[in-house]
Amino acid sequence: MQEELNRIRENCLEDLKTVSDMKSLDDIRVKYLGKKGVLTAALKEMGKLSKDERPVIGKLANEVREEIETGLAGKKEALETAEMMAAIEKEKLDVSLPGKKPSEGNLHPLNIIINDLEEIFLGMGFSIAEGPEIEWSKYNFDYLNMPQEHSARDLQETFYYNDEVVLRTQTSPVQVRVMMDEKPPLRVISPGRVYRADEIDATHSPVFHQMEGLVIDKGITMADLKGTLDMFAKKLFGETVQTKFRPHQFYFTEPSAEMDVTCFKCGGTGCKVCGNSGWIELLGCGMVHPNVLRHCGIDPEVYSGFAFGMGLERVAMTKYGINDLRLLFENDMRFLTQFK
Ligand code: DAH
Repeated sequence: MQEELNRIRENCLEDLKTVSDMKSLDDIRVKYLGKKGVLTAALKEMGKLSKDERPVIGKLANEVREEIETGLAGKKEALETAEMMAAIEKEKLDVSLPGKKPSEGNLHPLNIIINDLEEIFLGMGFSIAEGPEIEWSKYNFDYLNMPQEHSARDLQETFYYNDEVVLRTQTSPVQVRVMMDEKPPLRVISPGRVYRADEIDATHSPVFHQMEGLVIDKGITMADLKGTLDMFAKKLFGETVQTKFRPHQFYFTEPSAEMDVTCFKCGGTGCKVCGNSGWIELLGCGMVHPNVLRHCGIDPEVYSGFAFGMGLERVAMTKYGINDLRLLFENDMRFLTQFK
């Protein structure tokens, strides 16, 4: 029995020497220590031993078992270390390999325009005001002096949540919010998303962007409006651009105008882009209507001001010569990556 145990120990240690992976290591564990293992089988024979022999053999059997277990554990650790070293070796960074250039993103053309506009107006002392896209109908229409029967209030033109709440159809309600919240002098711009119940085509979309501007102070006149907006157009399109103000009608301004700029393509001589007129319509503007000032708690006898609003898709399309609004929303990378 003693001999057999010693042989088992020798055999096992010999087997362990040749092991090179976890699977065969486990096979060895099963072979010697498993339920049907060699050592287990030998120990079952213990019952046949005499009283004197039993403690001696029992002690030896324990030693052999411990030695086998230590051998297995040692081998396991060695294999794990070897595996880890191999993995590290495999993942080692070869700093001499040429790098992979990560693809560089760029801003969406609309965001480029918004950034440009913000920079121009911040440079002129304006600050940025924000308002909610889900807006009170009275802010979007009533306080802006729009009559009850105005067609813009139609279900066909405006998305209503209920009678009192709409998706704002213009950024003009931000004017109202600013005038109600703050005391003049005021000088703010407000870029943001607006919504109209329009079908999508080359020039319409139910979601688009506008930027509103508002200046309120003592003694503000139409000359301030024209000077500010002319300067803005020159900063956006270049010094040679000229502006023209055509009388127009908005409910929240009196008098009102639309501002055209000379065509960026032909410089004013007439081409396909400007429909041979030499001019491109850019924005609406006017002197803030006394009723609007009054609705917002500002005394029109003391203060006056001007406001303007423009569609940002239109500005982007004009500046970049884009002929279809949908290109701005389709997110085709071939289109979007052209604007740096
Ligand atoms: N809110 C107008 C629109 O959506 C644009 C506009 C015109 C805004 C004149 C103004 C303004 O502030 O004075 O068509």
